[in-house]
Amino acid sequence: MQVKFFDLKEQNDMVRDEILSEYAKVLDTNQFVGGPMVGRIEAEIASYCDTKYAVALSSGTDALLVALMALDLKPGDEVITTPFTFFATVGSIARAGAVPVFADIDPVTFNIDSDEIIKKITDRTKCILPVHLYGQAADMDAINKIAKERGIIVIEDAAQAIGAAVNGDKAGGVSDIGCFSFFPTKNLGGFGEGGMAVCGDESLYNKMMMLRNHGSSKRYYHEYIGGNFRMDALQAAALGVKLKRLDSYIRMRRDNAHQYFEQLQGVMPESLPKEINGRLHTYNQFVIKVDKRDELKEFLAQSGIGTQIYYPLCLHEQSCFKYLGCARGDFPKAEEVSGRCLALPIYPELTEDEITYVSDKIKEFYRL
Ligand SMILES: Cc1ncc(COP(=O)(O)O)c(C=O)c1O
Repeated sequence: MQVKFFDLKEQNDMVRDEILSEYAKVLDTNQFVGGPMVGRIEAEIASYCDTKYAVALSSGTDALLVALMALDLKPGDEVITTPFTFFATVGSIARAGAVPVFADIDPVTFNIDSDEIIKKITDRTKCILPVHLYGQAADMDAINKIAKERGIIVIEDAAQAIGAAVNGDKAGGVSDIGCFSFFPTKNLGGFGEGGMAVCGDESLYNKMMMLRNHGSSKRYYHEYIGGNFRMDALQAAALGVKLKRLDSYIRMRRDNAHQYFEQLQGVMPESLPKEINGRLHTYNQFVIKVDKRDELKEFLAQSGIGTQIYYPLCLHEQSCFKYLGCARGDFPKAEEVSGRCLALPIYPELTEDEITYVSDKIKEFYRL
């Protein structure tokens, strides 16, 4: 049997006709950047997240960059984030002119640990940027409390977690700004690159709207140095069709996760992801933490099963961030997880037989 790590064909076949008819509407409007389709997906995402505003952007990376640029960070301003995330989180902080400051992770959820955040706060801390890793929200109650008491802004990197919940509220919508990615592998995957920033504050919204358009609201007059971070109308049209199905995609991901739990909970409970009460996990990734990770990955590959490592090297160890002065050993929990994590196939259309096959092969490898 072959089990791909990720496969969009079935999902896209189901929406093909609807998307093509939406594309035809875009051709009719003759507006390919911005326009009514983009305005519509902004309104729909704002409504989905229960936020006042949404700004459609060219990628999740650009959503983070634009959100951070809107804060007007000065050289030396610090943004506290996790060292165990995709590069874009930390790259965007540096590109926005601030200093990334790392706080180690909680070993249970692999999300940033709020106690570690407190240790890293200085009078230069301008923002805390938690990441909702793999589709489960970070501890937003604690993080928002820390920030509120000190007048610090919070930006959620919810790139992997649209649809996740924090005490019944939508992840991304429970801080000053929430950032989403619509990269095809995400919970809401577009037909190319795309992103969104949601917020409740009118002035942040207005500034982000200008920043995505070279810092301008009136053509050829520029208040800020922004960029071209706009979303294409065709992208917005495809996302509109898929957004209607997002909750069902998440249900399918959760069903798949629970099948893994059924098959593996009895034999390797310590290796499986943990769901925290009140934080609905969307399982954008299903990541196990195991010994002999690289050997297991190779064994699964030889058995026809695709897996991925998110992420093999922490951000404080990346050569481009050497200037921050961190070293191996500084964030032991993140480092331990990066050496032991392995993402299994979890995409919505995965079948029960495929999950059983993957689980059986894992048991075979460990002779469980
Ligand atoms: C945690 C995290 N942040 C940011 C991004 C960036 O999103 P994009 O690929 O849409 O630029 C990603 C996407 O991979 C991500 O996983």
